[in-house]
Amino acid sequence: MSHVLHRTIKGTVPVVKGADGNYLIDETGKKYLDASGGAAVSCLGHTNERVIAAIKNQLDKVSFAHTGVFSNEPAEQLATYLIENAPDGFGNGRAMFLGSGSEAMEAALKLARQYHLERGDEARTKIIARDKSYHGNTLGALATGGHKQRQKPFDPLLIDVAHIPPCYAYRYKNEGESDEAFGQRMANTLEEEILKHGAGNVAAFVAEPVSGASLGAEPAVPGYFKRIREICDQYGVLFIADEVMCGMGRTGTLFAMDQEDACPDIITIAKGLGAGYQPIASVLANEKVITAIQDGSGNLWNGHTYMSHAIACAGALAVLKVIEEDQLLGAVRAQGAKFKEMLIETFGDHPNIGDIRGRGLFWGLEIVKDRVTKEPFPAELNLAGKIKQDILNNGMLSYPSQGCVDGVRGDHILLAPPYTVSDEELDIIIETTKKCLENQLSKVSS
Ligand SMILES: Cc1ncc(COP(=O)(O)O)c(C=O)c1O
Repeated sequence: MSHVLHRTIKGTVPVVKGADGNYLIDETGKKYLDASGGAAVSCLGHTNERVIAAIKNQLDKVSFAHTGVFSNEPAEQLATYLIENAPDGFGNGRAMFLGSGSEAMEAALKLARQYHLERGDEARTKIIARDKSYHGNTLGALATGGHKQRQKPFDPLLIDVAHIPPCYAYRYKNEGESDEAFGQRMANTLEEEILKHGAGNVAAFVAEPVSGASLGAEPAVPGYFKRIREICDQYGVLFIADEVMCGMGRTGTLFAMDQEDACPDIITIAKGLGAGYQPIASVLANEKVITAIQDGSGNLWNGHTYMSHAIACAGALAVLKVIEEDQLLGAVRAQGAKFKEMLIETFGDHPNIGDIRGRGLFWGLEIVKDRVTKEPFPAELNLAGKIKQDILNNGMLSYPSQGCVDGVRGDHILLAPPYTVSDEELDIIIETTKKCLENQLSKVSS
């Protein structure tokens, strides 16, 4: 009997024993093509020699020295790399390093509050985020997310975060409405929400540039984030871009916000940063935020024992170097364009695929019962969960999820292959997804 408190203790999960490139291998020797990086983590596959060597090399030097006393070389180099490559506007910003996306989100929220307090703007406490978003599982991050199903058991413990609708064209765009008009309409809901709470009371707006776990790779329409930026500037609200899932090359640029004509004040990144070789996340703060702290207390009001861990930072730095040296951002764009075409060719006319959306190597298929009415399958069928299991049985990892329609109903399949995915592997991903989708659809329809 296992003594690990697994995510489910009613069944068993395979035990991973090894890896080979983009495949994981369990203890029976069965191989799984990793088409989701678990949750868009493993962007370099599982056996990148340069990353492994960098981690081993750092182990031989020093692993841990408390950040209350020391900095370390990998943390310094990683922060410089990230700030130098951050979207325009980060200037002399700074980065802090933490252990998970949720931790980064907690730190980002606290940093936003600190920014206002440092400037004597004490009334600013309200956080506004978006429905159907996911920002993590710790209490602050969970409250910030807009996934009702995940929040429900913990509701009494959560801070009161306000939510506006996401920029979700498939369900929210009106018939005949242009992308531009739609983007402006959705962004303007932020202004309405700010005014509802009182312009001087809002601390920050939080959004995923490309929504991942809850919405299945939904990018915003052009102009949406530009208008969001204008509104934030007008009302003195900080804009936090949660790039935990979509950042670090996943969408074809190092930062997802590089593809929007707007620059956030704070960016969180995690998954692709360590690529699964190390647990690491980061909060990047732009010069405006850093200057407020510098001119104020001079101290960061946040700390964790394992911040800026030298091994984690060395691993992440090596991941970023591999992305740069192997020109993997170009590979994401090229393979992503192929993948998009393959998805459209295979599922574009499928009666149960309502929407195909995404960017780079980050794609979602929204499953519907009826393509005309966009009605989802009942949540109790757990179609997403069944497809995930079927795909796993067929030797592949994917990331299906539920809740895109209203936080409970609505199934989607998220696919996020490694940046090193080959043409042959793309074929396998399409074939396996199609086979398991059809298989499970035939069961729920019979
Ligand atoms: C956008 C986003 N933010 C935050 C998180 C939380 O990250 P973690 O699971 O590492 O705590 C996730 C995880 O899926 C995420 O997708």
